[in-house]
Amino acid sequence: MTRIAVLGAGYVGLTTAACLAHFGHQVICTDVNEERIAALVNGVVPIVEAELPELVREGLSNGLLSFSTDNADAVHGVEFTFLCVPTPQSPSGRADMSYIEAAAREIGPHLARESIVVNKSTVPVGSTKVVERALRRPDVAVLSNPEFLREGSAVHDFLHPDRIVIGAESEASAVRLSALFLRLSAPVVVTDPASAETIKYAANAFLATKVSFINAVAALCEAVGADVRQVALGLGYDRRIGPEFLRPGPGWGGSCFPKDTAALIRIAEDAGYDFGLLAGVVAVNEEQHQRVVAKAVELAGGSVQDRVVGVLGLTFKAGTDDMRNSPAVEIVRHLIRLGAIVKAYDPTVREPVAGLDDVELCQDPYAACEGAVVMVLATEWDEFRWLDFDKVSGLMERPALMDCRNLLEGAMLRRFGFEYKAVGIP
Ligand SMILES: NC(=O)c1ccc[n+]([C@@H]2O[C@H](COP(=O)([O-])OP(=O)(O)OC[C@H]3O[C@@H](n4cnc5c(N)ncnc54)[C@H](O)[C@@H]3O)[C@@H](O)[C@H]2O)c1
Repeated sequence: MTRIAVLGAGYVGLTTAACLAHFGHQVICTDVNEERIAALVNGVVPIVEAELPELVREGLSNGLLSFSTDNADAVHGVEFTFLCVPTPQSPSGRADMSYIEAAAREIGPHLARESIVVNKSTVPVGSTKVVERALRRPDVAVLSNPEFLREGSAVHDFLHPDRIVIGAESEASAVRLSALFLRLSAPVVVTDPASAETIKYAANAFLATKVSFINAVAALCEAVGADVRQVALGLGYDRRIGPEFLRPGPGWGGSCFPKDTAALIRIAEDAGYDFGLLAGVVAVNEEQHQRVVAKAVELAGGSVQDRVVGVLGLTFKAGTDDMRNSPAVEIVRHLIRLGAIVKAYDPTVREPVAGLDDVELCQDPYAACEGAVVMVLATEWDEFRWLDFDKVSGLMERPALMDCRNLLEGAMLRRFGFEYKAVGIP
């Protein structure tokens, strides 16, 4: 049994802590958010993440998982300290390293001799050096171990990774870290820290590129009368391409892709390379948000000024409560700018959302349909498939639906009298 501290009890930190405790390690997880830690101490998981509540309760009941707000105390005597704190986008587009540096400065004097600090946050090339400087502990090795989990299936992804990437200056410390993951059967890529850090950004940039690509193909399909679902199927069977991330939609978003693509563009720029390809990927994405809004306006008869628009879904994808950089929220903002009265429903959002004060938050999907001239299905929650569309149609001013996720069957909706538009479907 190894003693481990995990700093940050968010999507990555809490998942890492709960899974490492599940492997049989003694783990303490900290956060500066006292409310979050108070909830976790009582077994209440403050985020929506499948399987996480069960693992947290397991760790609490067998004593392998504990929580604290005291970073200095938590790292006392531990062999590994994982940094899982935020690295948000700064105004320049670069990753904001202040949370990482503050955490490192705080724990430096309290770390056990020759322990290992592991950077799991997504950080620019050279960040292990930044952490080393902030720690002021030459005896402590700083390793990069980027995380690739997806929100909504974080526990599953942590327990079944495609690969584990370890960036280390010394092979010995890489071997020590890899021993923590012995229970996992995945290839381990041991490399230098700069390559490990670049792998993470390149992976997210590539996935964002795939989504922007299929969104651009969807726009082409609309222009030439092809069906993007068929095109994606035909593309995805090619093993060189693969079927993942070929679903057109309202554009990508979430807590990672937007900030990580922006950061990679800046990393490249700072290093003297113009990453024009990635800038194009970002531009296609911004265009995509506007394209779906334009279609909703078209369905509303050309204007949404002073008219009710119902929005189904606010989170950036189904299976999570995360609304950070959500395309759904972006769509809502566009609609409000166009003068719409927006009513929105999301199964995970019960409290008013900061920054969306003008939106009427509904407690059930039908309330969001009342008096609407168009419904915008913005997040692919499964429950939207099973709505009573006869009832929806009766509640709306006129039955029209913009399906930004290609979740529904157009033919079925048309039978209910809906005018229906989707993405890349003729
Ligand atoms: N969310 C994802 O899907 C995902 C996937 C892979 C990598 N990442 C990366 O992992 C990092 C964390 O992301 P996240 O989504 O878990 O963020 P998050 O915002 O959900 O959680 C971060 C937590 O760290 C806490 N924190 C801030 N400063 C702290 C400190 N000094 N000590 C202890 N706790 C502190 C915050 O209060 C917050 O609860 C980011 O760099 C992100 O890019 C995220």
